[in-house]
Amino acid sequence: MSESSLKICCIGAGYVGGPTMAMIAKQCPDIEVNVVDINESRIAAWNSDSLPIYEPGLDEVVREARGRNLFFTTDVSEKIKTSDMIFISVNTPTKTFGIGSGRAANLEFVEKCAREIALHAEGHKIVIEKSTLPVRTAEAVKRILNSASNGSASFDVLSNPEFLAEGTAVTDLLNPDRVLIGGESQEAIEKLANVYGRWVRPDSIIRTNLWSSELSKLTANAFLAQRVSSINAISALCEATGADVDEVANAIGTDSRIGPKFLKSSVGFGGSCFQKDILNLVYLCEHFGLPEVAAYWEQVVLMNDYQKRRFSTSIVKTMFNTVSDKKIAIWGFAFKKDTNDTRESAAIYVCRDLLEERARLTIYDPKVGLDQIKQELIYLMSAEFGTLSEKHRKLIDDNVEVANSAEAAASGAHAIAVLTEWDEFKEVDFDAVYRSMKKPAFLFDGRNLMDREKLSKIGFEVYATGKS
Ligand code: NAD
Ligand code: UGA
Repeated sequence: MSESSLKICCIGAGYVGGPTMAMIAKQCPDIEVNVVDINESRIAAWNSDSLPIYEPGLDEVVREARGRNLFFTTDVSEKIKTSDMIFISVNTPTKTFGIGSGRAANLEFVEKCAREIALHAEGHKIVIEKSTLPVRTAEAVKRILNSASNGSASFDVLSNPEFLAEGTAVTDLLNPDRVLIGGESQEAIEKLANVYGRWVRPDSIIRTNLWSSELSKLTANAFLAQRVSSINAISALCEATGADVDEVANAIGTDSRIGPKFLKSSVGFGGSCFQKDILNLVYLCEHFGLPEVAAYWEQVVLMNDYQKRRFSTSIVKTMFNTVSDKKIAIWGFAFKKDTNDTRESAAIYVCRDLLEERARLTIYDPKVGLDQIKQELIYLMSAEFGTLSEKHRKLIDDNVEVANSAEAAASGAHAIAVLTEWDEFKEVDFDAVYRSMKKPAFLFDGRNLMDREKLSKIGFEVYATGKS
């Protein structure tokens, strides 16, 4: 396999597979990159002008490479057959059934990929785990590849976890802190390192054994989430004592041993990975007979649950202990700014709590529509009770609507809850918003985004996380 004739296939055209492969294709015009998926509408969207995910800068990268050396297709078997390197970048959600339910990663999709590769592969293939996986998954992948293969193929398995964050995926991919490659075959590791080496500094490419690479990914997410839970725990103490969480974060963050990043107190972390990956880590620790280690990491998730619940409870308490039949404007539903991803967004939990209290919600998010919002609420409310009860369906149908601007959402509302830190929320005409609201006009800032002094002067009653 000479480098210039290299063909890459990536199974899974999601938030990771799409942007990562688009970046490889952009940086390596001589490498043919095929992104395959069983989801036809997703592939159609990747081939259209309206990409299936919103990510700043991604349109330009895709436009440059698509049709030249970047292709999106549902023809999984053909692309497996003709590729030298095959990335597995499929979803690995938390199991919702059977052994390890609620904690372990569901590896069904990864295993199906390995079987599909074994079935169609011919010649030598480098199979690369891009999905986030429990440590030692590569062992199972290798066994499946070797036992299910028809004998005309051979395999090397590498672990190459992805560290991009949504909303900054393009810059993260362009300038990664590090690229991690774990494997047993030095030759295979170097082939993959050479691909990244086209634009990533050589000293940023870390080589490890397979298990260190798999475990480093879970550990990185656990450490990042732990920082958010740690500052959120302190935010509760700030509210009780008169300390200001942003001032505390700034004071501790200037210590170079701690550092300033990931110390922004919030309504709670969301996203498809932090909770899933920590629960997976907890499950692994239990599996390997380490209950104290499991309990330590589980606390990060429990603290996050507490923070989300604390926010919605404080809204109800502050608004004279009832939000029933009150209109509440929800500003932001995505799990962070600059993405249309709502998976595990703290907003889903806060909205659920407020609906349970019979509030009427008008939601505005620049990138998220009503269907997606309802789907998330239905998913959460069904997961808790097995199926969606008539009561919950009615709560959602009767009390959730969307507006086409932050101002429109707030018009006639008793309160605004800021749940995503979209920049545009800082730019609204707060004088006009205040005039349009019921009084007292409450604003609950779950992101510490707003200028509290300015808003208080206008007349708002402002409550912000970690501020008394
Ligand atoms: P996703 O759900 O957006 O995309 C996964 C895609 O895989 C889907 O389009 C699905 O149709 C496809 N798929 C599933 N089984 C398939 C099969 N057998 N054949 C072909 N296609 C199949 O998921 P994602 O957010 O891209 O995450 C993928 C992996 O990367 C996960 O393990 C996740 O933990 C990890 N990860 C995600 C992020 C992130 O920011 N989202 C960052 C780093 C790592
Ligand atoms: C996270 C990691 O940052 C990535 O390195 C990793 O690749 C990815 O998970 C993954 O494995 O999926 P992501 O979830 O996209 O990326 O976004 P983050 O920026 O990490 O934010 C996660 C959540 O924490 C968001 O809800 C965000 O609002 C919240 N957060 C983050 C805070 O509340 N405070 C902070 O200081 C930072």
